[in-house]
Amino acid sequence: MPPARRPRRLRRTAALRRLVAETRLATDDLIAPLFVREGIAEAQPISSLPGVVQHTRESLRKEVAGLAALGVPGVILFGVPATKDPEGSGAWDPAGIVQLALADLRTEVGDDLVVMADLCLDEYTDHGHCGVVGPDGDVDNDATIELYARAAVAQAEAGAQVVAPSGMMDGQVAAIRAALDGAGHERVAILAYAAKYASGLYGPFREAVDVTIAGGGNRRGYQQDPANAREALEEVRLDLAEGADMVMVKPALAYLDVLARVRAEVDVPVAAYHVSGEYAMVKAAGERGWIDGDAVLAEHVLAIKRAGADLILTYAARELAEALS
Ligand code: PBG
Repeated sequence: MPPARRPRRLRRTAALRRLVAETRLATDDLIAPLFVREGIAEAQPISSLPGVVQHTRESLRKEVAGLAALGVPGVILFGVPATKDPEGSGAWDPAGIVQLALADLRTEVGDDLVVMADLCLDEYTDHGHCGVVGPDGDVDNDATIELYARAAVAQAEAGAQVVAPSGMMDGQVAAIRAALDGAGHERVAILAYAAKYASGLYGPFREAVDVTIAGGGNRRGYQQDPANAREALEEVRLDLAEGADMVMVKPALAYLDVLARVRAEVDVPVAAYHVSGEYAMVKAAGERGWIDGDAVLAEHVLAIKRAGADLILTYAARELAEALS
């Protein structure tokens, strides 16, 4: 007997498929992560992130103006300072590279595009950890969140509309919220990297920001264990209780289960970070002709949306926006 129900009926033509598509990627979903480096005369390519560069302040302005023209609603900035120190003071120095770049961008695009700043110390510390290293070699949680609070205020003063703490210290959101409010920045929002895993997929990013963790170290003492999903929900609850406005899951593709669970549990906007290694793998395989890189990128980013992300941080933001326009 022929089947009565034939799902293939609705797959016959492109128009039918469009009509019944459950998920659509839109330019409005995208946030472009961007790097700005102090002391360079020209933008520098990042070999493990094809198509992504370390910007000068000037090239950054142009890139962001271009993204705004394409309709991309947000960017998140990472700074690469010329000098690093044990505390990572470049993160809160008003003349630090990210603070200068934030001010440039607000002048350039105003409120047309949301200017966010990653809030962490690893780009600024000489040992490469996300916080202050104590005498026992461990990252000192409570000393670190005081520095995050300073960085948050510096970023807000420079014009950041959203700060995004990515260091996975306990209590970081509460410390940042209190510092922002205390300095009159109650309108600055917090996008918390709530469930951030100790992942091998951050490799190219560390090239992008010139970070090597001292002594072959790692971040397993503060970032989440990839084995744990329930723990991510607890991290999300804590961050929301501390005042986070939006929460993030990072990386994205290997953690779509976590993303779906977070989406089901909370009603605030949920972000997912399609990280450097996820992007680089697709680019590398595409360059070799082993996969159709453009098709796989689009498929991956759509899958991140399908799993529940409202906002997707991706190095492919520009090319996806161009394809969508
Ligand atoms: C920490 C930070 C990292 C990334 C974003 N913020 C690196 C890390 O935790 O080691 C990684 C992003 C990526 O891989 O694209 N400031």
